[in-house]
Amino acid sequence: MNANALTLNLAPLLAVQGVCKSFRKPDGDELVVLENVNLTLRPGEIVGLLGRSGSGKSTLLRLIAGLDAPTRGVVDYQGAPVAGPARGIAMVFQSFALFPWLTVLENVQLGLEALRLPEAEIRKRSLQAIDLIGLDGFESAYPRELSGGMRQRVGFARALVVHPSILLMDEPFSALDILTAETLRSDFLDLWGEGQLPIRSVLLVTHNIEEAVQMCDRLLIFSTHPGRVVSEIPIDLSHPRSPPDPRFRALVERVYVEMTAKPRGEARTGPKSERFAGTGIGTTLIHVSSNLLQGLIEAVSEPPYNGKADLPVIAEDLHMELDDLFRVGEALQMLRFAEVEGGDIRLTEAGLAFARSESDERKHLFARHLLTYVPLAAHIRRILDERSSHTAPKSRFFDELEDYMAEEAAEQTLRTIISWGRYAETFAYDDQRQVFSLENPA
Ligand SMILES: Nc1ncnc2c1ncn2[C@@H]1O[C@H](COP(=O)(O)OP(=O)(O)O)[C@@H](O)[C@H]1O
Ligand SMILES: [Mg+2]
Repeated sequence: MNANALTLNLAPLLAVQGVCKSFRKPDGDELVVLENVNLTLRPGEIVGLLGRSGSGKSTLLRLIAGLDAPTRGVVDYQGAPVAGPARGIAMVFQSFALFPWLTVLENVQLGLEALRLPEAEIRKRSLQAIDLIGLDGFESAYPRELSGGMRQRVGFARALVVHPSILLMDEPFSALDILTAETLRSDFLDLWGEGQLPIRSVLLVTHNIEEAVQMCDRLLIFSTHPGRVVSEIPIDLSHPRSPPDPRFRALVERVYVEMTAKPRGEARTGPKSERFAGTGIGTTLIHVSSNLLQGLIEAVSEPPYNGKADLPVIAEDLHMELDDLFRVGEALQMLRFAEVEGGDIRLTEAGLAFARSESDERKHLFARHLLTYVPLAAHIRRILDERSSHTAPKSRFFDELEDYMAEEAAEQTLRTIISWGRYAETFAYDDQRQVFSLENPA
């Protein structure tokens, strides 16, 4: 089903108009996260919002749901501005904070608490939602008895039980393993296609291009620093969509090129630092092993690429999925060993120097870039340097990260920083005791 054609004439359910959001940084400066964001959501469509991590996607969803207020601009929902938590808009997160002492049914019922419905109605609707999302028979189970995929289904049920008009989904499949994610995605699409879901539109945030092309009627590409919708791509393929289909592949490539396009307008002539700017401690780090980072630098530095490669071409050459390779490229960009732009990856001077170096020199170079460009690494190192024991428990940093991101993202970010820190010998980490330490205190 492609809802596009049917819905073009309907009034939008949601209109985000000129929305800006900034935060005050600890040093007092302003961090502009969203700048002049405009988008609409019409009844009957699934719209994807694709952007790199740290581009402000979660922030935007929070504004839409009324969990936070824009610095400027408005979010209109059914013609009225959103002010405070909006009834009719529900959210599914990357991972759900289910209450461990409550059963599946009780966790789902919580979603209805604010609506003050009669008890029998609450129970009926909750059982319906549980049934719908494939958890029939697990009503009395506790979260610890469920797999990750089942827990995420509880999250979906908790959002669906309120019969929202709009379902906001914030990377809802990204914490699941590939097969589980695939199953849940296709179950969701089947229910949507059959008109079984009690919702009218979906806004799906993801950084997975394949997922976006699989699920959405149109895609909005979000730029980074500050976040803004820079282009829109309609996906006019019928369901079920098949990833090997050449038209599917062509769309994936197009999205991919748009995502890595040069910044438009004034930003094009802006200082080069803008392209790299703005990772804070709260930036989720996607796990990419140091082996992969080195591997890609080496591959790009060698003939026939000699420092610059077309990502889809080199992905095929290396037998890697484009999405996976893109993540490696993003990590190299964060570390300033490469620039990813217009579907190309180009090594920086530092990247080329890295490729020419022997292993010890590589480690030094990596350590220098890690401490300079990844604030979390610098932060951990500083704490370790300052403490007389030169150790710090992982939980300390985990708690800090949780202020910015979901639990799973915090886990992943720490796992990444641990593996990069180990490779660079910037700090050590004891897996058993879960403690960071300095191998060579300054
Ligand atoms: N409450 C906050 N205070 C300060 N900075 C924040 C806050 N929430 C998010 N940020 C910052 O805003 C940027 C965008 O974050 P986020 O919306 O989570 O991005 P995304 O979901 O696209 O990865 C990040 O740099 C993050 O550190
Ligand atoms: Mg996010």
